[in-house]
Amino acid sequence: MIRSTVRGVGAALPRRIMTNKDFEKLLETSDEWIAQRTGIRQRHIASDDETTASLGEAAARRALDAAGLTPADIDLIVVATSTPNNTFPATAVEIQERLGMRQGFAFDMQAVCSGFVYAITSADLHIRGGLAKRALVIGSETFSRILDWTDRTTCVLFGDGAGAVVLEAREGQGTMSDRGILAEALRSDGSHKDKLYVDGGPSTTQTVGHLRMQGREVFKHAVGMITDVIEDVFGQAGITAEDIDWFVPHQANKRIIDASAKKLGIAEEKVVITVDMHGNTSAASVPLALNQAVSEGKIKEGDLVLLEAMGGGFTWGAVLLRW
Ligand code: ACO
Repeated sequence: MIRSTVRGVGAALPRRIMTNKDFEKLLETSDEWIAQRTGIRQRHIASDDETTASLGEAAARRALDAAGLTPADIDLIVVATSTPNNTFPATAVEIQERLGMRQGFAFDMQAVCSGFVYAITSADLHIRGGLAKRALVIGSETFSRILDWTDRTTCVLFGDGAGAVVLEAREGQGTMSDRGILAEALRSDGSHKDKLYVDGGPSTTQTVGHLRMQGREVFKHAVGMITDVIEDVFGQAGITAEDIDWFVPHQANKRIIDASAKKLGIAEEKVVITVDMHGNTSAASVPLALNQAVSEGKIKEGDLVLLEAMGGGFTWGAVLLRW
């Protein structure tokens, strides 16, 4: 059977770093408050010349380099983002053009912080369905552009960046020892819409709007939803937490990550943490963390890797793959 296998990973971060200390000059907050509640110490913030498309393109080029491929080898691009360059066309199409591609097809996926998990699942289904052989799956965000910079309860939490993987169709045996994506589960529940949303849009206010969040409410639901969907994936694969080599969760808050790992029984040393360096980069956070873990020599070929995300909507999901 066909398995969608990761062949390369790459990332791109804006040049400018903003530390918690920098926020102390703008708002009534402190490095200590932010670090203690969230684990965040710094984040990257895009300058005017850095956009979701330019960061996504840079991450894609690095993933292609890591895979030893060129844009000519790709026939699908899926970009997970809630901060597209324009309402339309899709940022994926803009990246396709920037890469000089005329072949294949490209589209955006909008599932907020779960975007990358949704996008890699979608790319996997396109590959296994025979519509594509090699896909670029990109998570790219410029959340700094939709933050209310006067609201200390939200603006300290987010950052900008992009990560990408090249997924490739490979023949597998249909067993859990295959390389590639082995199990996936997606969920959403729109009744939670008001807990994390943007208060603008083309069809309502004709503005871009700002991110609004009831942080405590999100926190309350996060751990239960995350662990539920991961247990689903474990059930599908017939594995337990002990079989996992690396847990690469969405990087929103270290306390949510720690509580989820503890509830699932995943050992601390298997958890990849980048929230301290990047803040919450929404759909970019999982591929940024994957790239970090690979470049540090942690994730190696054959390792069993668990991805997870949860975000606005709510949306949530998990993907199990062998690297
Ligand atoms: N600096 C200083 N004080 C602050 C700040 C700040 N940046 N922000 C809020 N406060 C104050 C509040 O005003 C409040 O003060 P009060 O008691 O005088 O009213 C106090 O700190 C406590 O506020 P809470 O909101 O209750 O703080 P809490 O402990 O819940 O932490 C946080 C807030 C960090 C947002 C937490 O709720 C959280 O992490 N929630 C999850 C949200 C999240 O991660 N969302 C990301 C997107 S969703 C996802 O990706 C999963």
